[in-house]
Amino acid sequence: MKSQKPKRYVTADQCPQAGRERMIMPQPIALVGREAQNPERELLKRMGETGAVFMMGQNPDLPVMPERPKLLDFFHFRFSDIAYMHLLQSAKLALDAGQDEKVVVACLLHDIANGALLRSDHGYWGAQMIAPYVSEEIAWAVQYHQALRYFADEAAGFKYPDAYNAFFGPDYKPPEYLCKAHEAARNHRWYMTSRLVTIYDIYSFQDDWDVDPEQFTDIIGRHFKEPKEGLGFDNSPAAHMWRSMIWPHNFL
Ligand SMILES: [Fe+2]
Ligand SMILES: [Fe+2]
Repeated sequence: MKSQKPKRYVTADQCPQAGRERMIMPQPIALVGREAQNPERELLKRMGETGAVFMMGQNPDLPVMPERPKLLDFFHFRFSDIAYMHLLQSAKLALDAGQDEKVVVACLLHDIANGALLRSDHGYWGAQMIAPYVSEEIAWAVQYHQALRYFADEAAGFKYPDAYNAFFGPDYKPPEYLCKAHEAARNHRWYMTSRLVTIYDIYSFQDDWDVDPEQFTDIIGRHFKEPKEGLGFDNSPAAHMWRSMIWPHNFL
């Protein structure tokens, strides 16, 4: 289980801004249109009144990441329990079915944006996060799974997930941009790579199935180019996304 994994913490006095109260401002995207829950004014007032500062750098409530973080470090130290298990279980299903390694890796990464970054449009965010490190085909498969999972392909063995009727309601229709993305993907040479991601996606969470992430180490080594500086510090076009997960509570 994820809870058995090692976690490395520091104490508050080993963090930047030691000795001060460090306030966490929630990310704006989580508060759009929810002014009643937005603590922005209150926290700014508190700063002026008490000398409290806004969180920057290591939050002592989070495990410390290695100096040069690799892909699985984010699984261990940052991803939510559900995202962690969901990605590993999907990849394991594809592996046990004898799928090509590129499909296994696409399954392992397909919802990576949900791990610790953003849920909305997660296929697109996820594809951008991994694009500098994987083949174009794997990133494409991750991007397009977002559209394909709404559209059945019974010949390929994919029906509309029952879970989506529960998640979104039985009348939900995907927006036009995803309908268009689905049509474009259907005729693409990599269609089946992305379609297989939707087939091995786990639509009902399995709490009692523990998958050891280390079994994917060799496959990751062959298909994910870990930057020598560590994810977040290689100056790639996606480095800022990985840094945002390392220090998710930075004020600015
Ligand atoms: Fe997904
Ligand atoms: Fe998924």
